[in-house]
Amino acid sequence: MKIQIINGPNLNLLGVREKSIYGDSDFNTYLDSLKHRYPSYEISYFQSNKEGELIDKLHEVGFDYDAIILNAGAYTHTSVAIADAISAINTPVVEVHISNVHKREAFRHHSYLSAVCKGIIVGFGLDGYRLAIESFTAPVQQ
Ligand code: DQA
Repeated sequence: MKIQIINGPNLNLLGVREKSIYGDSDFNTYLDSLKHRYPSYEISYFQSNKEGELIDKLHEVGFDYDAIILNAGAYTHTSVAIADAISAINTPVVEVHISNVHKREAFRHHSYLSAVCKGIIVGFGLDGYRLAIESFTAPVQQ
């Protein structure tokens, strides 16, 4: 199982940025714990503050990887181009937000990405990335 995690703008500052909203942990420490928990999965990580680089990464992995977990940060609320990239690729994408965007400012309530993603995980802190992995790897048959 090849899983790509993609984080967008300002998420390089996790552990430093607005800790009351995003928590104390930096992403690399969290990523180590995820890799430790799921040793049999190949988990890759990419972060960029640039919209075009996020799109390039979606194109690069989107025909080959089994799963993409995307937190596009503020581009979630603005980017038709990232939504189009998700539509263009074959790999399913789960949208993650660390904070519960629906408890926050109105401009965070709309996502251009949700309608083209497999699903959305919002408001569970960093644990949302683990929940996203579980959604790909351990679904209960219905
Ligand atoms: C975020 C929520 C966005 O509204 C914000 O712009 C972010 C982080 C989250 O993970 O909660 O940068 O995607």
